[in-house]
Amino acid sequence: MAHTITLIPGDGIGPEVADATRRVLEASGVAIDWEVHNAGAEVAEKRGTTLPEEVLESVRRNTIALKGPIGTPIGKGFKSVNVTLRQKLDLYANVRPVKSLPGLEPRFEGTDIVIVRENTEDLYAGLELMIMPGIAQSIKLITAQACTRICEYAFDYAERMGRKRVTVIHKANIMKLSDGLLLECFRKVAQRHPRVEPHEMIVDACALQMVKNANKIDVLVTENLYGDILSDLGAGLVGGLGIVPGANIGESAAVFEAVHGTAPDIAGKDLANPTALIQSAVMMLHHIGESRAAERIEASIIAHFREGGPRTPDLGGSASTREYTDALCKRVASA
Ligand code: NAI
Repeated sequence: MAHTITLIPGDGIGPEVADATRRVLEASGVAIDWEVHNAGAEVAEKRGTTLPEEVLESVRRNTIALKGPIGTPIGKGFKSVNVTLRQKLDLYANVRPVKSLPGLEPRFEGTDIVIVRENTEDLYAGLELMIMPGIAQSIKLITAQACTRICEYAFDYAERMGRKRVTVIHKANIMKLSDGLLLECFRKVAQRHPRVEPHEMIVDACALQMVKNANKIDVLVTENLYGDILSDLGAGLVGGLGIVPGANIGESAAVFEAVHGTAPDIAGKDLANPTALIQSAVMMLHHIGESRAAERIEASIIAHFREGGPRTPDLGGSASTREYTDALCKRVASA
């Protein structure tokens, strides 16, 4: 029976990478009925809202969505659709695997980090005000409930995936109350998971360790902002934003999306690397129990890069999105 899944193609390179991903999934033989919905600035012009209620209803009904990037204006304008979606659907765990692909530059080899980012609070709660002209305040909201939930998720994930260590990333030396609360919750949760080694690291030290000793880092659990920044750093360790996937997981819905944004500099030029969204779709297939199709695609991506298949310009190649996707589809179909 076909799975019904919500597809939000998004802005910028979103429609191009979403189309490539649909083609690769089709080649894998998995049966999916896509419910396509748009959200973002263009929708707002026609509908007066960036995130129409039927988009949320579709994700709630289908419980699974694949999403392209959606742009957010800087310093003014509407609130991020991505953040709103995560908050409204309570998609509290943002899981971002940062894993090397074979055949790329050797400095990218041996990295296999999973970043588990809390997705619903911290400075992303949107609690900002101008106290008076020239003085702005943003409130960093941290709750024991959200910290405990994300730490539980990270330890459960580590146990399920056979990972050895979970490191909490914090800045509790400076933010003694908010990040201190995260640490306190982490320590309590760690006691319930004796098979996984708990570890603690300050966020700036983590940034250095990721660059110097990426292959020694296992699962990281952290707050929203640190997780956002470390994810892009992680992407840089394995070849760039064109590669790294992500999943936003909640109790009653999950939205799969790449780490990257709308890439306005290359949008509409057939230059985008769709691997990140394809790998997000692989996570989605595992999540819905279509592991055979997921493994076919995973194995094909690895073989493609190991054997020097065509690459998009972000990875030093000259293939267009379409050429890369054609080659990958061929492999997946015959895998
Ligand atoms: P970006 O991720 O869109 O681009 C950063 C750089 O990486 C650019 O040079 C771009 O060409 C390159 N890049 C990104 N994805 C690529 C891909 N798949 N293939 C090849 N090259 C790729 O980040 P930026 O420019 O900071 O953000 C642009 C817009 O995207 C903003 O409006 C931002 O709010 C939004 N955004 C949305 C996200 C989401 O929907 N989850 C996540 C991050 C940003």
